Amino acid sequence: MKPLPLTIVVFSCLLIHGTTGASCSDPPCPPRFNSIFSFGSSYSDTGNFVVQSAGLPFIPFNHSPYGDTFFRRPTGRPSDGRLAIDFIAEALALPLLPPFLAREQDFSRGANFAIVGGTALDVDFFLRHNAASVPPFRSSLRVQIGWFRSLLRQTLGGTNATSAARREHLATSLFVVGEFGGSDYRFLLSGGKTLEEAKSFVPEVVHAICRGVEKLVEEGARYVVVSGTPPAGCLPMALTRYAAAAVAANASTAYDRRTGCLRRLNGLAQYHNWLLREAVRRMRGKYPATKLVYADFYKPVALLVRRPAKFGFTQQPLEACCGGGGRYNYNPQLACGLPSAATCSVPSSYVNWDGIHFTEAAYKFVAGGWLNGVYAYPSILSLQPQ
Ligand SMILES: *[C@@H]1O[C@H](CO)[C@@H](O)[C@H](O)[C@H]1NC(C)=O
Ligand SMILES: *[C@@H]1O[C@H](CO)[C@@H](O)[C@H](O)[C@H]1NC(C)=O
Repeated sequence: MKPLPLTIVVFSCLLIHGTTGASCSDPPCPPRFNSIFSFGSSYSDTGNFVVQSAGLPFIPFNHSPYGDTFFRRPTGRPSDGRLAIDFIAEALALPLLPPFLAREQDFSRGANFAIVGGTALDVDFFLRHNAASVPPFRSSLRVQIGWFRSLLRQTLGGTNATSAARREHLATSLFVVGEFGGSDYRFLLSGGKTLEEAKSFVPEVVHAICRGVEKLVEEGARYVVVSGTPPAGCLPMALTRYAAAAVAANASTAYDRRTGCLRRLNGLAQYHNWLLREAVRRMRGKYPATKLVYADFYKPVALLVRRPAKFGFTQQPLEACCGGGGRYNYNPQLACGLPSAATCSVPSSYVNWDGIHFTEAAYKFVAGGWLNGVYAYPSILSLQPQ
């Protein structure tokens, strides 16, 4: 089930269209989207957080080795190179998405609103539920949609929701919503909630994501990709921080024997994804004029963790490439980006980059599955904007 490299996907797509005759040139291949609008968390931030947190003492993502693999400089992306959203933009022949908060960029082909720490739920929710560690900034999906609306006002003129140019532009844009959820649960857990309590908030998190999707559809979105959350129990950060509690709760069931991931944390992510996929299915019925894609972020990462060597990831998949040592090479006091942290020599042989985020190589694998449909339904490359 290995997704084909993107170039091969595009070529084979052309070949298939070529042999079926009628569909050869119309509809075109790859899909002709005018632009991409992306919302989410650190898994798709292309530079918003470093702009928003300018003035704070130290932002790791703003330092080498972040960005070294592809950009040869830090761009604010929490990875060594490109993210899934970058591979999607490349496959659709669109420019890499500029971060919205970095002003004076060209947003005519899209914008990225995703930001490190981006949550589905609002800050007020975390304050109400006494989570001690609240998101440092107001950057929930609702806030990100507010940024999107302000961009529309700037670029497409006025607040006239019925403006034909605006509707036309949005109807031929690809919207990518997510990943969301990971930051929500992390804030709840680090704020002292138990895993059971965090699980009880899953329906609210999923509901908040759906509310965001519905707002975008009501604005005129016709193509929306909704991403699930990756297996949180396989992250070096989680394995370092939560393993003791998991073992204390039940040593015999704390770890997945095949992968070494934390089972109940993965269960939380799977429960979230299951509710979200069901919600997307329901929204398809409610909005027949909009194509809604559910993109699975869990399965491709879980597969890389289970059988890394098969896909060229030759190193221990639960170990971060860049970090400050320890069993999983994750240490918050010696975080990647600090001069004292060490970086592996071949990042593409690792699944995990810095303990929380993935390497460019892993994102490429995930994005390939979303584009060709192995890990998304329907596939992104099958969308045909009018
Ligand atoms: C706003 O929409 C109305 C109704 O479609 C249209 O008549 C009007 O010209 C629009 N105004 C602008 C500024 O686009
Ligand atoms: C731990 O999990 C196992 C398997 O589900 C169960 O049999 C056992 O009773 C549990 N132990 C505790 C202390 O909950």
